[in-house]
Amino acid sequence: METPVNMPPNDADHPVVVDVRDLRKIYATPEHTVTALDGVTLEVAAGSFTAIMGASGSGKSTLLHLVGGLTAPTAGTILIEGHDLGKMSDQRRTLFRRRRIGVIFQEYNLLPTLTARENVALPWLVDGRSLSDSRARVDELLALVELENRAEHRPDALSGGEQQRVAIARALLNDPAIVLADEPTGNLDSKQSHAIWRLLRDIAVRHCTTILMVTHEAQGAALADDVIVLKDGRIIGFLQPKGSGDATLVATGYQELAG
Ligand SMILES: Nc1ncnc2c1ncn2[C@@H]1O[C@H](COP(=O)(O)OP(=O)(O)OP(=O)(O)O)[C@@H](O)[C@H]1O
Ligand SMILES: [Mg+2]
Repeated sequence: METPVNMPPNDADHPVVVDVRDLRKIYATPEHTVTALDGVTLEVAAGSFTAIMGASGSGKSTLLHLVGGLTAPTAGTILIEGHDLGKMSDQRRTLFRRRRIGVIFQEYNLLPTLTARENVALPWLVDGRSLSDSRARVDELLALVELENRAEHRPDALSGGEQQRVAIARALLNDPAIVLADEPTGNLDSKQSHAIWRLLRDIAVRHCTTILMVTHEAQGAALADDVIVLKDGRIIGFLQPKGSGDATLVATGYQELAG
């Protein structure tokens, strides 16, 4: 087995939350076979903000989906907080995902008929809890994403950046071990993108939530602690902007690695 890419300091204060070993994902269609991930091994420490970069088709979303237990690997193991996703029954994995893994998508995925407050509460409403029961926690999260004064707005009365902040608040509802974000600023202008990246950094630092974010943008990746660079389904290296915001360091380092 290859040596793990041991990125942030892995010590008692920062235990490994995501432990991925020799992960492979092969998509087989009747016409052809695609190796989307070709032996990825990595460890991610608690409370770290990690960006994943790579050309289109390099396997970024596939890696995120596997870590999130949304799809099963062809080979390899994924441990989240020491729990092996591959050893769980489908039912247990679904429950584990709901409780311990938050996800954020490029398209926000809010329900258009619900207010911001209801959208944040949705995972609990689905679980049968009432809105009044959820209210304290939901309002705390709306304050965290600075949307206290938009709680009663429906998504069509919110900007793209505000909608994404609602989605972030929703992803944090259960105080998850990890938050997975696949190009969360893909639909946003640069000002709103910066606000989202800073918010994600803040959540990692202040709340010790581990964040994995796929991005094409060096400015976003530069606010992460570490950057994993993927090419053709393999990790070809990593950068350590350490949250500095130094986009030139990331852009140059990325160019050198990915060519
Ligand atoms: N369901 C699928 N069936 C077959 N092939 C797939 C499937 N999903 C992804 N692939 C292939 O796997 C490879 C990796 O895809 P993936 O979506 O992980 O790339 P990505 O790095 O996220 O790209 P992008 O930046 O365009 O989002 C690609 O070649 C893609 O065509
Ligand atoms: Mg993708």
